Amino acid sequence: MGKRGERGISMMSQIPTDMKKVEKTDINNEILRVGMIAELDAINLYEQLAAMTDSENIRKVLLDIAKEEKTHAGEFQALLLKTDKEQVVELEKGKKEVEKTMK
Ligand SMILES: [Fe+2]
Repeated sequence: MGKRGERGISMMSQIPTDMKKVEKTDINNEILRVGMIAELDAINLYEQLAAMTDSENIRKVLLDIAKEEKTHAGEFQALLLKTDKEQVVELEKGKKEVEKTMK
């Protein structure tokens, strides 16, 4: 567990102690971002494990699960983009920046 566990704890410690001061939308957006982080972390974990194993069956299952985690990340992102309109704009800006850089 090590690093992964520690990272989880540090995420929790950032949750504000006085929840009344935080807007409900902000809390929900934070929950969705934590969900995205967890799913992206899971993708890396399963892909790393897939690269480690000498069993073709285990590798196949791990990569299939990693793919499912990408769907889960997309579910959280889809929800987040419904309520965090600034993220919608900045996501598009980031895409354009990269396209400009890659020309
Ligand atoms: Fe998942």
